[in-house]
Amino acid sequence: MSNSAKLSTHGDDYDYPVLSGSVGPDVIDIRKLYAQTGQFTFDPGFTSTASCESAITYIDGDEGVLLHRGYPIGQLAEHSSFMETSYLLLNGELPDKDQLGDFTRTITRHTMLHEQLATFYRGFRRDAHPMAIMCGVVGALSAFYHDSTDIADPVHRRISSHRLIAKMPTIAAMAYKYSVGQPFVYPDNSLSYTGNFLRMTFGVPAEKYEVNPVVERALDRIFILHADHEQNASTSTVRLAGSSGANPFACIAAGIACLWGPAHGGANEAALNMLHEIGTPDRIPHFIERAKDKNDPFRLMGFGHRVYKNYDPRATVMQQTVREVFAALKVSDPVFEVALQLEEMALNDPYFIEKKLFPNVDFYSGVILSAIGFPTTMFTALFALARTVGWVAQWNEMISDPAQKIGRPRQLYTGHTERNYVPLDKR
Ligand code: CMC
Repeated sequence: MSNSAKLSTHGDDYDYPVLSGSVGPDVIDIRKLYAQTGQFTFDPGFTSTASCESAITYIDGDEGVLLHRGYPIGQLAEHSSFMETSYLLLNGELPDKDQLGDFTRTITRHTMLHEQLATFYRGFRRDAHPMAIMCGVVGALSAFYHDSTDIADPVHRRISSHRLIAKMPTIAAMAYKYSVGQPFVYPDNSLSYTGNFLRMTFGVPAEKYEVNPVVERALDRIFILHADHEQNASTSTVRLAGSSGANPFACIAAGIACLWGPAHGGANEAALNMLHEIGTPDRIPHFIERAKDKNDPFRLMGFGHRVYKNYDPRATVMQQTVREVFAALKVSDPVFEVALQLEEMALNDPYFIEKKLFPNVDFYSGVILSAIGFPTTMFTALFALARTVGWVAQWNEMISDPAQKIGRPRQLYTGHTERNYVPLDKR
């Protein structure tokens, strides 16, 4: 039988169904494994485990393919907008004109925050990392919008989803304003999602802020590139948190916490810091040697990926976008030259070739964000802003799945076996 997998263990044979998706590797359905054999599988880091069924995003890491609801990321980056891509991720199909208009209006009308949330910011130190503020403020949304936290009610789920997508730019911009000691700027609903975010970040009440259309388009494209990426660490965190029935604001705060790490969303900040540390092209070989040295913890940030063993298609678009932004703003940055040369040298080095390490989305994003004027500490906050739509779409898909259960992995226990308590005076 070709659609089953055989397992022999402890002298007994078992058959497990093999399930096929619409594309991509088959999966061995081991849901009955423990009940039948009394054994678990062992897969730290989930390198061989599909944790759920999903119809949102597909990645072929060997070919460098990324599809959202079937549409290649390159096409979406070129032709779509972040609002349209958000609708697609949430609803499964591209919207028609009316649907896009309605969706955009709904999101736009939810951009303001409850006024009392502003006092939350004042509790943070001025030098707080924006991601620390994002974790706190997004988690706190559940205390302000508890009229939409009944996760069993599809209407509540939709309202919470819209609120999260709409308020994230306001929250991120306020985190920035707080760090630089400028007044918060309220949303202006005559602007686009991304134009509004630029104004809330860089505008001041004393002057009129003109949105630069090239920068607006570039940032919108960066948001599209970060919108979703199937079951990555932060998305899996959102799903795991949500599997217990936690409210969506708390789940997204959990996702933000996970994204913050330098192996995940924090890599864009780390990559630009690294390029600055390298400084000039003549120092690249030294850093490449360090990245290859097993006794040195240094890694090339913005390089390598758990799934992509080919060029990350998002990095290709990012590299083109750097040039567009530089041209529009009439700026250049020596770190871009360092990045280009570092990429070329690494891609020709046997270590990186053998391990299939290519630039990922974070390698060039920092160069663009920095040219637009964002400080490095805001980079991961921007990633969180854009990824919120993916998290929300995946969370909704999970809650609507009749097969959904609380996520509860097991373990290979290697600690002490049972032993008797020893009173303090006898130890
Ligand atoms: N520089 C040098 N060596 C590397 C790198 C790197 N950036 N990435 C992986 N390797 C080596 C690693 O040392 C290991 O070597 P060996 O087999 O000899 O022990 C091998 O390649 C496989 O690495 P791994 O850590 O086992 O692979 P992973 O799938 O667990 O990790 C990764 C994937 C993205 C965490 C890793 O490539 C990395 O740390 N990259 C730098 C951080 C980064 O850019 N992260 C952003 C990822 S994309 C955006 C996102 O998802 O948030």
